[in-house]
Amino acid sequence: MSSSLDTPQGAAELAGSLLPPLGNRWLHTQTVAERAREASPAVPEDERDLLVAAAWLHDIGYAPELRETGFHPLDGARHLESLGAPRRLVCLVAHHSGAVYEAEQRGLVTELEPYEREDSPLLDALVYSDTATGPAGQCFEFGRRIDEILVRYEPGSEVHTAISKAHPYLGAAVERARARLDG
Ligand SMILES: [Fe+2]
Repeated sequence: MSSSLDTPQGAAELAGSLLPPLGNRWLHTQTVAERAREASPAVPEDERDLLVAAAWLHDIGYAPELRETGFHPLDGARHLESLGAPRRLVCLVAHHSGAVYEAEQRGLVTELEPYEREDSPLLDALVYSDTATGPAGQCFEFGRRIDEILVRYEPGSEVHTAISKAHPYLGAAVERARARLDG
């Protein structure tokens, strides 16, 4: 690894070493990173690289070789931690896009607890970038993206229930990010 994991280049290298075999997940990740770059005016200047790095790495927990709990935000965060990644990056991945709601459904709240969830323009911008991007990298408007997830995962499933509960939190984060970009 030539660059630090909290830089866009270092993060892209690590993601690129894990995700390409996953096909759509890799397409999704590349687009989320692009969206994050576009959304970077919504965060302080000295945090823009971290935002883009977190976008590259948010879904690495889906890589089969990282699978531990089967809950991708946690598996991704633990892997980054094992690589000595900066704490803030680890916690952003652990908490991307309302992960705590799905942790509740999966009985993994205790496992997620060591990672602090920041309440910040940066996490809002990460939610905004992820929820504006479909599963194969399509450009989605927020409401359509939520609907797409609710259709893809059947009612009663952990993801379906978690997204239903997380919806107000995610919507508010997206609104804040949008307002910062417009303002
Ligand atoms: Fe994602």
